[in-house]
Amino acid sequence: MALLPIRKYGDPVLRAKAKPVEVFDETLAILAEDMIETMRAAEGIGLAAPQVGKSICLIVVETGLIEEGEDPSIFVNPVILDRYGEKICMEEGCLSVPGITEEVTREESIKLRYQDLSGQAFEGDCHGTLARVIMHEVDHLLGNFFTDYLGSMKLRMLSKKLGALQFEAQKDLIEFRKMGVA
Ligand code: NI
Repeated sequence: MALLPIRKYGDPVLRAKAKPVEVFDETLAILAEDMIETMRAAEGIGLAAPQVGKSICLIVVETGLIEEGEDPSIFVNPVILDRYGEKICMEEGCLSVPGITEEVTREESIKLRYQDLSGQAFEGDCHGTLARVIMHEVDHLLGNFFTDYLGSMKLRMLSKKLGALQFEAQKDLIEFRKMGVA
C-alpha cells in the first residue's frame, strides 16, 4: 500500500476525460487500495483516479462515513444512468481544490451502473450523501470540478484562490516529473 500524491486544480489530468477500464488485473486492485489509503490519509470521503494522476474510470468512496459499518466502496467504469428526486443544495469540497467549499445543487438520487474489481457489472440506486459523493467523483472522470457549477460572480470572488492553486499545481507537476510519477 502506498500514499499517492494528489493532483490539484490546474493540473491538466483533472480536465482530461478518463478512459474506461478494460483490464481487471492486480494493478487495478492495487491502485484502488492505494486510492483508499490516500483518501483516508487526506480525510476525504471520495477520490477519483485522475486525482492521483491516473486518467481511468475508477472511483473510491468512504461509504463507512455515510452508512456506519460499511466498507469503502470501489466503482469501476461508473455511469450515472439517471438522476432523480428533489434537488438539494449542500456544501461540497474537494481534495484537489483545498481551502474552498461551496454550495452545489444536485439531485437526491441516482441510478448507477458500475463494475467491481473483477469486472462483474452491477446496477442500483443510491440516495442522499452517497449519491452526491458519486456524482462529484464521476464529474472528475469527465474532467469537471464542483466549482464548474458556480456562477460567474462566485468564480470571480474565488479567482485569487483558484489562481494560487493553479500555480501550485504547476509547481507540483515539475516535482512529480522529477520523481517519475507524471
Ligand atoms: Ni473532488
